[in-house]
Amino acid sequence: MQIAIDGPAGAGKSSVAKEVARRLGLKYLDTGAMYRSITLLALRKGINPHNGAHLAEAAHRCNLEISYDDTTGNRIYLDGEDITAEIRSPEINKHVSVVSKSPELRKELVFLQKKVAEKSGGIVMEGRDIGTKVLEDADYKFFIFASLDERSRRRWLEMKEKRIELSFDEVKAEIAMRDRIDQEREASPLTVAPGAKVIDTTPYSLDEVVEKLINYIKENKNKTQGSLIKKVSDEVR
Ligand code: DC
Repeated sequence: MQIAIDGPAGAGKSSVAKEVARRLGLKYLDTGAMYRSITLLALRKGINPHNGAHLAEAAHRCNLEISYDDTTGNRIYLDGEDITAEIRSPEINKHVSVVSKSPELRKELVFLQKKVAEKSGGIVMEGRDIGTKVLEDADYKFFIFASLDERSRRRWLEMKEKRIELSFDEVKAEIAMRDRIDQEREASPLTVAPGAKVIDTTPYSLDEVVEKLINYIKENKNKTQGSLIKKVSDEVR
């Protein structure tokens, strides 16, 4: 089974995707972590974040490893170094949307994401272009979002927990900037995939959103199987 979850920054995609994967016994891949890793690599190596060819080359040469377990989620290793925490810094938040504009880099990372899905035996993947470019034939596609204020509040609380001192307005401005870049870029902009179930998570807790996704999957399982049976019987005829 393949499940695609897309949406803007702070909508709760990672927490929801991780829990849905755990409940359904599927693997989980946070594709934003891959763009964040290449952003870290670019900052360390002094690569111009606007130079797509250099970014793609660096991504091709580096050794990016992503492990998964159903309690901690993904851990990310760049050339053997665990960078899981470092890629969540305000510095990376500031640059990642610009880095991910590059079509050359996207091609490189989408190739890896498709390979991970093929080998996974079933996966929940989340990002911005999963339903449109990475898992176009996913069994279920979701687009989850929340108001800018609510997403900023969630991110601000997350930062506070990590003892990163940023004001609510700073967090809100950064999310608004990333929304704009992610939606307006030419290569695979953030958009609702055809057939995706759209969920506004603003009034709901994490558990409630997870429940909504699981229920939707259960309710539509028979429909998927039904249409598959119909297709097969059409062919037999
Ligand atoms: O989900 P996130 O906030 O960790 O993603 C970080 C950035 O990576 C986001 O601003 C846009 C980019 N991204 C992307 O372009 N395509 C994806 N599939 C996932 C993330």
